[in-house]
Amino acid sequence: MIYARIAGTGSFLPGEPVSNDDLVKRGIDTSDEWIVSRSGIRSRHLAAADMGASDLARVAAERAIEAAGCEPEDIDLIIVATSTPDYIFPSTAALVQSKLGIRNGGAAFDVQAVCSGFIYALSVAEKFIRSGSNKRALVIGAEVFSRILDWSDRGTCVLFGDGAGAVVLEASERPGILASALHADGSHHPILCVPGGVASGQVIGDPFLRMDGQAVFKFAVKVLGDVANEVLDAAGVQASSIDWLIPHQANIRIIQATAKRLGVPMERVVTTLDHHGNTSAASIPLALDEAVRTRLLRPGHRIVLEGVGGGFTWGAALIDF
Ligand code: ACO
Repeated sequence: MIYARIAGTGSFLPGEPVSNDDLVKRGIDTSDEWIVSRSGIRSRHLAAADMGASDLARVAAERAIEAAGCEPEDIDLIIVATSTPDYIFPSTAALVQSKLGIRNGGAAFDVQAVCSGFIYALSVAEKFIRSGSNKRALVIGAEVFSRILDWSDRGTCVLFGDGAGAVVLEASERPGILASALHADGSHHPILCVPGGVASGQVIGDPFLRMDGQAVFKFAVKVLGDVANEVLDAAGVQASSIDWLIPHQANIRIIQATAKRLGVPMERVVTTLDHHGNTSAASIPLALDEAVRTRLLRPGHRIVLEGVGGGFTWGAALIDF
């Protein structure tokens, strides 16, 4: 039997942290107290104008490859989860492949599932590996969400940041990913969207993120609890035997409510959003890498990753690390 295991993790946050007070100094009508009490976010990173998602992804990928003890040439599949790609095409994954110096490589493509994107990409890569078609995949979440924020909308712009996280997923005889589940319900698209695009050289519609925060909150707590239970049930595992829950880092109150629904104490939940905000598809691999590098997460630990995002999309993976 072929399984898919995480062999290495990496992440990257661009530039210096931008604190909540820095946002106030930049003229946003908000306060540190409001942002921290509503979201748990204290600072975020914003990429310089000349950095694209592929640049952030490249650094995270190099760190994951180094941690896995392999070379870029050993990678035969690259999947980048992003909603803020460098271009309409080529894919961000193809650009990352080029920036890593890989020539005549395996498949490289993007997946677009917003904040669930990393779970989607991980699950797709797992299926490639378990089928025997590929041996070593680079799975990346990379975002420059600052580019799609309306900085005059204080209800959204304070919540997001830029960053990237990556894992090397490789074929193994030992189980790694034990179960995964993906879902979508496009009928909820109006409550979180960027309802615009480019056509004939012009922006058509609205190119900024729009969100009904309270509707998103309720939906997120329900589906995150459900999908985590779904992967636990699929593997016959109790929530009490999970070492770490690593949820999408959107909002501390969503994370707390989900952990409570699952009966997982907050001491076993990895939270990193205080210093990078909501980085959409990058948030789960960022939190995962930080847990590894701070030695919270160690080989042999059993973890649940879970995410929810625009679409709406949601998903989870149960993993032996
Ligand atoms: N600073 C100060 N005041 C603000 C700010 C701000 N940044 N933003 C809004 N306010 C004000 C509003 O104007 C409003 O004032 P009013 O009462 O005088 O009209 C007041 O705060 C309350 O506004 P609400 O929108 O009702 O605030 P709420 O308590 O719902 O909190 C929030 C908003 C934080 C967005 C909340 O709804 C939430 O946590 N939603 C979840 C959304 C989320 O996390 N999205 C992340 C992306 S989705 C994902 O990743 C899956």
